[in-house]
Amino acid sequence: MRNLPDTAKINKLNHLEIGGCDTVDLAKEFGTPLYVMDEATIRNRCRQYLQAFRKYYPNTAVVFACKSLCTAGILKVVASEGLGFDVSSGGEIYTALKSGVDPKKLNFHGNTKTRAELKMALEASLGRFMVDTVQEIISLDEITNMMSQRAAIMLRVNPGIDAHTHEYIKTGTIDSKFGVPQDEIEEAVNLIRSKKLLTLAGFHAHIGSQIFAAEPFVAETKLLLDLTKRYGTAELNIGGGVGIAYLSSDEPPTIENYAAKIAAVLKDKTNAKLVIEPGRSIVGTAGITLYTVGGIKAIPDVRKYILVDGGLADNPRPILYQARYDAKLANKANDLPTEKVTVGGRFCESGDILIRDIKLPEIAVADVLAVFCTGAYNYSMASNYNRVPRPAMVLVNDGQATLIVKRESYDDLVANDVIL
Ligand code: LLP
Repeated sequence: MRNLPDTAKINKLNHLEIGGCDTVDLAKEFGTPLYVMDEATIRNRCRQYLQAFRKYYPNTAVVFACKSLCTAGILKVVASEGLGFDVSSGGEIYTALKSGVDPKKLNFHGNTKTRAELKMALEASLGRFMVDTVQEIISLDEITNMMSQRAAIMLRVNPGIDAHTHEYIKTGTIDSKFGVPQDEIEEAVNLIRSKKLLTLAGFHAHIGSQIFAAEPFVAETKLLLDLTKRYGTAELNIGGGVGIAYLSSDEPPTIENYAAKIAAVLKDKTNAKLVIEPGRSIVGTAGITLYTVGGIKAIPDVRKYILVDGGLADNPRPILYQARYDAKLANKANDLPTEKVTVGGRFCESGDILIRDIKLPEIAVADVLAVFCTGAYNYSMASNYNRVPRPAMVLVNDGQATLIVKRESYDDLVANDVIL
């Protein structure tokens, strides 16, 4: 199934197995909610990106967008496949450096980087500074002079392209807080080029996330190619990768198809280096979340709720973007669906519904529910709402489960409370 990790199987016990590990055993051993990440799927997606671009446009660097999932264990896996990293805060820089990533392979994004973050990034000699505003050029000039340190800049431009995706995850329309508007590009380029320690490496744009159509990416690449030619720069960065299938009926383009379409714009027209920054499509499908069913509430002629021990704090995407998810009972993996239920989370919000109207086999309290495609923008957007500790994360591979993020404890929750 395209919305499950590549290694997903149903074993002899009728349990869902990922990375050779029985997920019901994982739930017992590590507790729930539990994020389970499949190492093989992450590696496969990294390799698919590298191979596809090697085939169609070899002068390409693939950079993992850390915001989708930033833990040292995951970054190490991705780094070992040869990818660079898109980082967008001091915390992501810190995690990447702690994971042993080469600072030259880090591209520092963000529309409002603090001065402290800029200093930290310059001290570490990060590879690229993705500049979002004219003010940032002025700050970078000041700080680079103070530190006698050079910075290579990619200028993020607003491409004015509407990628048809959820309103909250579009970034390239004219009315967007991201990117330098087109009529300010010339001024920004001249400003960068007038500064002793700043160099303009090229242009960057990002049109949004969870996009299936190729056209907006093609239009964006054309626009960046035009800028590359106009200003004689050597690099163009088109932002995030393809969308993924959350439901088995979703049909995103393949990575190969996406690479071919983008390469077709550039081939024989430039020698510039292409950079792409996929996040969701590297880790999204690799992850599932395991929950324990804690209650069942059937309201006659209205709805049957099954209530689980997690929800909007470990997966805020349904409440934020009306995102839809698919799931299976991990301990009844091959049983036929018999009833339509709604999966409610444990948090104190009526909107904390993980999945509305899904058909599942007959459910009992203590069943383990596996929600698919939770690898991206779940842990990285998790909160402690209702003072609930954030779940643990395990990396599974070849029958081995390695704890890569510990479950938070109650002591962790009060660790920063000054008055106890
Ligand atoms: N590059 C830049 C500059 C970005 O802003 C992003 C995502 C990416 C790359 C990676 O895009 P991807 O390959 O993952 O589509 N929280 C939302 C998604 C926000 C995406 C923000 N930027 C969600 O859960 O759908």
